[in-house]
Amino acid sequence: MKKELKDWFVPWLMTAREYNTSILDKAWAQPDHARLMLNENPIQPSEKIIEAIADAARHGNWYPDSFKALRTKIGQMYDLGPDNVALCNGSSETIDAMMRIFMQPGEEIIMSTPTFELFPVRAELCGCKAVQIPLREGDLQYDVDGMLNAISDKTKLMLVINPNNPTGVFIDDDDLIRFCETGIPLCIDEAYAAYTPERKTKAPLIKKYPHVFLSVTLSKAHGFAGIRFGYVLGSEEMIKAFNTMFLPWNVSLMSAAAAEAIFDYPAEVEDKVKHNNSWMDRFSDELRKLGLKPYPAHGNYMLVDASMTGKTTSEILDAAIKTHKVYLKRIGEIHGKSGYFRVTPGVDEENERFITFIREYFG
Ligand SMILES: Cc1ncc(COP(=O)(O)O)c(C=O)c1O
Repeated sequence: MKKELKDWFVPWLMTAREYNTSILDKAWAQPDHARLMLNENPIQPSEKIIEAIADAARHGNWYPDSFKALRTKIGQMYDLGPDNVALCNGSSETIDAMMRIFMQPGEEIIMSTPTFELFPVRAELCGCKAVQIPLREGDLQYDVDGMLNAISDKTKLMLVINPNNPTGVFIDDDDLIRFCETGIPLCIDEAYAAYTPERKTKAPLIKKYPHVFLSVTLSKAHGFAGIRFGYVLGSEEMIKAFNTMFLPWNVSLMSAAAAEAIFDYPAEVEDKVKHNNSWMDRFSDELRKLGLKPYPAHGNYMLVDASMTGKTTSEILDAAIKTHKVYLKRIGEIHGKSGYFRVTPGVDEENERFITFIREYFG
């Protein structure tokens, strides 16, 4: 008897959770709606970036090389060499590659819940299990003891997003070291680190702990979510593993040129960070005045606990769209409570619209 197509698929293709991006189709189709539900940068790339992309496109008939100059430039930012840097097409690619580098079907990665949902999905698509330990109640900090106690002989990888998504909370340095000391491969995701330039990167840890690697993206503070560029920092052995798993030519000439241009022009990032951070402060004040609980956020997103109002997350999200054309991010129940949502600053007008919404809805 002939098998059906689905019977040819690897079994975990059918059972893995889906990472649903359908909200993007809605957002692109409705440009009058404020897309405050994604951790995007609301500011468009400068002319400098666009010119760099256009210049690179002139050589678009050639395959790229390994971008040694760009890897050297990135390495220097962290006191590392070019062979400590692997380039990628956004850090989603790193998330996918790390699962395939370290895990075989049936093995496990330890992370928190909630977390950036692409991580568990990509683990499940390798036939692996994401062991998700709830954040601590109250401060929503990582439950470090809980995560360390979950280590078994199936554990092949651990994840710390710093600051965490969706909470925006940093892990304490001592706790991070406890993860490093386990000797188990550890991904430290610094997707949002550029929003707090006063804090030091954790990149120096890779010198002492060769099983630790950092994942960085330009999708956030740099505003490259659609351009697509990221990198991994690690020991030379770690970087070789990533370069083996990444596809050759995973980074286009255009995105590498855009990255090079923005590294040469840090004022562009500083301005974007300033815009974000001042609106985050304003959101925090406004939300607090209304009796809601914004978490102390350090990225371009703020987790808000509105559970004390008795409104569910769905009710809040629906009202924001219907009354003010504002998209907010759905956050599932945390410790059994509904009423959480996440908001990312947009352009000034969109942010004023969000504030009008919360005043009218919760006021
Ligand atoms: C913690 C974290 N890591 C990685 C990513 C993915 O970023 P990229 O656009 O580089 O694939 C995101 C996106 O929201 C994120 O929140």
